Amino acid sequence: MDRLQKTLVFGCVLFYVFASTLAQDCSSYSFTSNNKFSNCTSLSVQSAFLHWTYHPANHTADIAFRHGGVSSSRWVAWAINLGKAEMRGSQALVAFSNSSGVRAYTSALSTSNYYITLSEGPLSFQVPKISAEFLSSQSEIIIYATLVLPSGRTSFNQVWQEGPLSSGAPAEHSQDSVHQRSVGTVDFGTGQTSAAAGVGNSKTRKRNVRQSIL
Ligand SMILES: *[C@@H]1O[C@H](CO)[C@@H](O)[C@H](O)[C@H]1NC(C)=O
Ligand SMILES: *[C@@H]1O[C@H](CO)[C@@H](O)[C@H](O)[C@H]1NC(C)=O
Ligand SMILES: *[C@@H]1O[C@H](CO)[C@@H](O)[C@H](O)[C@H]1NC(C)=O
Repeated sequence: MDRLQKTLVFGCVLFYVFASTLAQDCSSYSFTSNNKFSNCTSLSVQSAFLHWTYHPANHTADIAFRHGGVSSSRWVAWAINLGKAEMRGSQALVAFSNSSGVRAYTSALSTSNYYITLSEGPLSFQVPKISAEFLSSQSEIIIYATLVLPSGRTSFNQVWQEGPLSSGAPAEHSQDSVHQRSVGTVDFGTGQTSAAAGVGNSKTRKRNVRQSIL
């Protein structure tokens, strides 16, 4: 083997080890709440994971979004976007700790407003259940929710984020590359996911992210 071949083989082995470690990470995870989900994916950045069970009969998905590496003074959010692969206009689930527990709520982000806050409000589809827990030993927040998925599709752009709290409310997240690459797609029906943005190029995404909280 010449040098290039060796490098390629080594690269493939590394990638395989990395990919299988990621896969194990989510499928072997056991929830303290005893919840079980049939599918999971390790999201591409920010130590985040999505677990879900899709019920074709009523087109609902029971999901758990886990975000690691967060302290009690951080907020986390996971959202699906029926339009572009960006936070603007997305339908978000938000959670953070406060003195009396963990607050979890839904927040529909405006498509037109560049400066986005995470205020509580209904989404464009129903979320009959939402709750969250903060596991301080794992520095992890987990959001549990049931989503009545928008009809006619099982595949969506997904976006996720985390940021600081200020006066007990979500404040603007970091603009580093990790926080700008937290987009992808998820198909609740087939289990297929991708780390790539479904729509839009990185230039417009960057601009949109820069001007919004989320
Ligand atoms: C995802 O779940 C479906 C059933 O809902 C199952 O058929 C499929 O094999 C799962 N995919 C993975 C990657 O676990
Ligand atoms: C959807 O259907 C499944 C069974 O297929 C059931 O377990 C679940 O509770 C239902 N969800 C809702 C929100 O009705
Ligand atoms: C704190 O969290 C609890 C849920 O644990 C919620 O009921 C309450 O509204 C939250 N308080 C504030 C100020 O957000």
